[in-house]
Amino acid sequence: MSEQRKKVTAPAIRAMKGKSRIGMLTAYDYPSAKVADLAGADIILVGDSLAMVVLGYPDTLSVTVEDMLHHTRAVVRGTKSALIVGDMPYLSYHVSIEESVRNAGQFMQAGAHAVKVEGAKKSRLDTIAAILDAEVPVMGHIGLTPQSVNAMGGFKLQGKNADDARRLIDEAVALERIGCFSIVLEGVPTELAAIITEQITIPTIGIGAGPSCDGQVLVFHDVLGIYDGHTPKFVRQYAHIAQDMQTALETFLSDVREGRFPDEVKESFHMASDEELKRLYASRDDGGVVVEMPKAQ
Ligand code: KIV
Repeated sequence: MSEQRKKVTAPAIRAMKGKSRIGMLTAYDYPSAKVADLAGADIILVGDSLAMVVLGYPDTLSVTVEDMLHHTRAVVRGTKSALIVGDMPYLSYHVSIEESVRNAGQFMQAGAHAVKVEGAKKSRLDTIAAILDAEVPVMGHIGLTPQSVNAMGGFKLQGKNADDARRLIDEAVALERIGCFSIVLEGVPTELAAIITEQITIPTIGIGAGPSCDGQVLVFHDVLGIYDGHTPKFVRQYAHIAQDMQTALETFLSDVREGRFPDEVKESFHMASDEELKRLYASRDDGGVVVEMPKAQ
C-alpha cells in the first residue's frame, strides 16, 4: 500500500458501511503509527490497551489522560492518512459531563480526529451527547468493555443469553441514534454481532465478534506477535516479531562480545589521511600505541 491515500474522516468511515470493509489497528507511538498507516489502516486507534501491551499493567485501568495524550501526539506525527481515534481512558469520562468534554477536547487538540468511549448506559449516553455537541466525533464501544473488567468479573464474553444480547442491541441502536459514527463490538457472539450489524446504519468494528461486522480491529502487538502476555482466541498473529527482535539482539550482543561488531571499515570512521594520523602520533610525548588506518575494501 504505497500510493498516496486521501485523509480518512469520520464521515468517510460512516459511508463505508455496506461498501467496503474497514481495517483498524491500534498504534501507540511514531513507528507503530507509521507502519500501520503505510500498511493502509483506515483507522488507527490510540488504544488504552497501551496500559497492557506497552506499559506492562495487568489491565487498562491505570493509564491516564496525560499518558494517552503523550502517545496520541506521537501517533499523530507518524500518521498521514488514517483516521486517528483517541481512546478515552478510565475516569476521563466518568466524573462529570464537563470534565468529559474537556478531556475529549484535549484529544482533539493533541491531533486526534475522534474519540472512543466505552459503554452505553443512560448516563454514558448523556456524556457522549455532550462530547458530540462539542464537535468531537465519537466511536462507541460495547460488549466486553475492558474498563469494566472488575464490574464484569473478568474479561468475559458478553451477550451470551437472550436478555443480555437484547440489551446490547438496544445499546447499539442508542449509540447510533445519538450520533456515533461507528461502534466497536468486542467479545460478543458472532450471531449477536451479525444482528447488530444488520440493524444499525453505522459501521460495526469487531474484535472477538466474528466475521459479520463491517470492519475488524486488532491490537498492533497481537497482530505482530510482540506482546508476551495472554493472547485471546480471537487474535490471529501474522508475525512473531518478539522472537525476531530477541534473536537480532542476541546476535548483536554476541558480535560485541566476540569482537565482530563494529566492522573497522563498513561501520567505523577514520582520520582524514595517513598523513594526519602520523602527525597525531608525532604530537604525542610517549609515542603511544600505533594504530594502522585500515585500507578501504
Ligand atoms: O484499547 C484498545 O486496544 C481497544 C481495542 C481493542 C478496541 O479498545
